[in-house]
Amino acid sequence: MKKEIRIFSPGTVSNVSCGFDVLGFCLDHIGDEMVVRTTTQKGISITKIEGYDLPYETKKNVAGVSALALVNDFQPDFGFEIEIYKRIKPGSGIGSSAASAAGSVFAINELLGKPYNKTQLTQFAMKGEAVASQSEHADNLAPAIFGGFVLVKSLKPLEILNLPTPDELYAVIIHPQIEIKTAEARAILPKEIPMQDAISQWSNLGSLVHALHTSDYELLKRSLYDAVVEPYRSQLIPHFEDVKQAVLDAGALGFGISGSGPSMFAITKGEKSAKMVEIAMRKVYQSSNIQFETYLSKINKEGIKTLS
Ligand code: HSE
Repeated sequence: MKKEIRIFSPGTVSNVSCGFDVLGFCLDHIGDEMVVRTTTQKGISITKIEGYDLPYETKKNVAGVSALALVNDFQPDFGFEIEIYKRIKPGSGIGSSAASAAGSVFAINELLGKPYNKTQLTQFAMKGEAVASQSEHADNLAPAIFGGFVLVKSLKPLEILNLPTPDELYAVIIHPQIEIKTAEARAILPKEIPMQDAISQWSNLGSLVHALHTSDYELLKRSLYDAVVEPYRSQLIPHFEDVKQAVLDAGALGFGISGSGPSMFAITKGEKSAKMVEIAMRKVYQSSNIQFETYLSKINKEGIKTLS
């Protein structure tokens, strides 16, 4: 049995405009690394965290909590220690907590000889994600674990649909260096929405799923709208409307808030278009006094992977 594993756990974009809490996709080279090794002592310990200041106490750390959920179920007569090399800033909106929560259960499952399937791993990881966002949702976790575009059909029972990813799709992310806590970004949302907004949202989500199945980039473009969440959350993000305009003018298929923000994402057809969109995004923020980073990524169809 393998005693140690190093994995790459990618960032993700959830919601994807019209799919609040149910849709997400996986990014390519943006993500964390983790090393997990077996220990003779039972239980889970976090032995190293590099990159950001996060709790070492297992029950307060998202990677620790999801790992505990798995070992409480499996009951191995040994334990695991976890090292986290965090590259995704917590509170960035590109699935930082999900990368940690999904990474630990993926790695432990590999060391145990893969007793659990991807849906079961997502279920364990949701326990960790809940520590960060104070609510259980899987629209960042499932894309990290399954790769590509993912639809979370239901949470109880957990049912996840891996959607097709057209080959030419690229994502461009801009991450303003401010923090928006998921719990706070959820708290500002209305409890009820007007029927007309609901109709528009489910028509767009249905069309988007069809566009992914048929690689219909024009339909994808006409589907990437958010009538429900963006009007509220965009107010928390400086220059949101300016970036949106610039990005759409530069040829993006769509633009929206990545997860609960502050990161924003654009989807493009092809890398050349992605580069133009990245330039347009940067131009808007360069004239502000807010630090930012941009990332350009192909959609990652593989999800979390073993490095060694
Ligand atoms: N769907 C979630 C939200 C993702 O937008 O609140 C953030 O973790």
